[in-house]
Amino acid sequence: MEYQNIFSDSASKMKASKIRELMKYASMPGVISFGGGSPDPLNFPFAEVKDIINKWDDKKAGAAMQYGGTEGYPPLIEKIAERMKDKKNIDLTGQKIQITTGGQQGVFLLSKILLNPDDIVLVEEPSFIGAMASFLSHQARLVGVPLKNDGVDCEALEQTVIDLAKSNKKPKFFYTIPNFQNPGGSTLSMEKRKKIYEISKKYDLIVLEDDPYGDLYFNGEEKDYLPIKSLGADAPIVYMGSFSKILCPGFRLGWLLGDGALIDKAALAKQSVDACSTSFGQFVAYDYLASGAIDGYLSKMRSVYRAKKDFMIEAIRKYFPKEARYTEPNGGFFIYVDLPEGVSGEALFKKTMEKKIAFVTGEAFHIDPVEGDKHIRLSFSNSSKEEIEKGIAVIAEEMNNALNN
Ligand SMILES: Cc1ncc(COP(=O)(O)O)c(C=O)c1O
Repeated sequence: MEYQNIFSDSASKMKASKIRELMKYASMPGVISFGGGSPDPLNFPFAEVKDIINKWDDKKAGAAMQYGGTEGYPPLIEKIAERMKDKKNIDLTGQKIQITTGGQQGVFLLSKILLNPDDIVLVEEPSFIGAMASFLSHQARLVGVPLKNDGVDCEALEQTVIDLAKSNKKPKFFYTIPNFQNPGGSTLSMEKRKKIYEISKKYDLIVLEDDPYGDLYFNGEEKDYLPIKSLGADAPIVYMGSFSKILCPGFRLGWLLGDGALIDKAALAKQSVDACSTSFGQFVAYDYLASGAIDGYLSKMRSVYRAKKDFMIEAIRKYFPKEARYTEPNGGFFIYVDLPEGVSGEALFKKTMEKKIAFVTGEAFHIDPVEGDKHIRLSFSNSSKEEIEKGIAVIAEEMNNALNN
């Protein structure tokens, strides 16, 4: 059977994630990888999770190992709602929460219920490859809006909406990662958050606000990173959260928070995808939130990641040629590098891989591959100081070799 000839139109639009491919290299023995955005495995709250499970009686353990409702484990939904209200200042009137199998499934479900072939999705450029892959697999057309150090260019965003309206087109939604953007490392300023809220309200433009890193800030405090959705209840904004970076990705747990009618439709879509997310993981996540342990853990992880970021920035300053530019993130996992003119990300990767140093080339995150090749993304979350020092020195050496040739 020639399977290539029988795939659906949407399957044909699917793009292999460069990051998944790179993960293959990253797991090879001896490779130092600044590739995938994985949390630090040495700091997973494994002891707390074991304690939680050990306290379950047979009845609770049975329920945790059973199927659950599609919408999610009700006590967990309630706990998330509490946190969204108390910590993120989100007004929950008329809103619902849907538990998802990772934040990635939240993106997928929204794509599934909102996108028809050729619908336009506005994305920051660069943007998260997993989300773009989901939009593309639903045959959407991506339109990029430039990302700056203080978040997306709001004037360009509004102008794009206006220009599209002139040809009777309206984007289905705008996808944004306001906090410690993946891959850009940028943070959307409060002023721009207000501007996006106003644009969303004025043009009735759905905003998908993806915030898996928002709790992992290095400077300032919670209120400096409040979601766009916290700014009011008059704009169609859907907030997406994830337990992957604040507990562990192994549970594959996230949530969608949005208008009740939208969330009900997402739940319907989920019935045909996986019926329900892990009951086991949801039970653990609930006990973890209810115990209050998460706040101490987040505080510790902010320090752990801040130290890694500081160390990588120091190494970059020490080794990189001065023509290389980079973001210094206020949180999260990523530093985005603008390579010196004439240095190709792809060629650099091939060279550093010979010395077992991996990262992700910018091509994965840009609509325009030529622009993408001018950048690389470095993740510091999952590397030791020694690995950071060694890896950054090698990347710098190959950059200099490319510049001198
Ligand atoms: C911006 C962004 N959104 C969503 C996700 C998906 O995370 P998960 O499906 O593990 O919750 C990631 C993971 O790296 C991400 O960086």
